[in-house]
Amino acid sequence: MAILIGDIAPDFTADSTEGPIRFHDYIDGSWAVLFSHPKNFTPVCTTELGYTAKLKPEFDKRGVKVLGLSVDKLEDHAGWSADIAETQGATLNFPLIADPDKKVATLYDMIHPNASDNLTVRSVFVIGPDKKVKLKIEYPASTGRNFDEVLRVIDSLQLTAKHQVATPVNWKSGEDVIILPAVTNEAAREKFPDGWKELKPYLRVVPQPQG
Ligand code: BEZ
Repeated sequence: MAILIGDIAPDFTADSTEGPIRFHDYIDGSWAVLFSHPKNFTPVCTTELGYTAKLKPEFDKRGVKVLGLSVDKLEDHAGWSADIAETQGATLNFPLIADPDKKVATLYDMIHPNASDNLTVRSVFVIGPDKKVKLKIEYPASTGRNFDEVLRVIDSLQLTAKHQVATPVNWKSGEDVIILPAVTNEAAREKFPDGWKELKPYLRVVPQPQG
């Protein structure tokens, strides 16, 4: 059965470049990003892993643990890591799961048989501290993902988990947000004492809450 937003992210054990991992213990109250790679020693994946390694401080700042996954053997990950460092100028600084028997890829529906029966698609799962799936993105193997977008979405997920707001189209951290329609004006006056701009009764815009 497909994993849907709001479901508990399935637990698993697997080998990784940073040792054996039991997923739920590893994420232990943090946010997490689990993303799949179709195959080792492939060009697009190499660029994605290098870029994500460069973004690691941004993930750390947000309290997010990042894990990659590829359906290759652990010993192949070591050689590929060297290539990533050489060509991308960044050393792998987060666990890359080895999933040669496709156990995790199958559990997370990362293999789409009508696309390929032995490669994963490019899946991204963002998981909250409650271990529930907050976001799912799927790209085909031929299209590299935008990891700046993954960070942008995490900013929205973390903000909207804390405050009764939603983020509008193309929102970036620091920009105005929208008061949730379920919040009455009376309740909004308490939460947003400096007021808001009402474009429609259902479209009330406020500066991004801090903290
Ligand atoms: C790549 O990472 O470059 C790639 C992997 C599988 C199919 C196509 C491209």
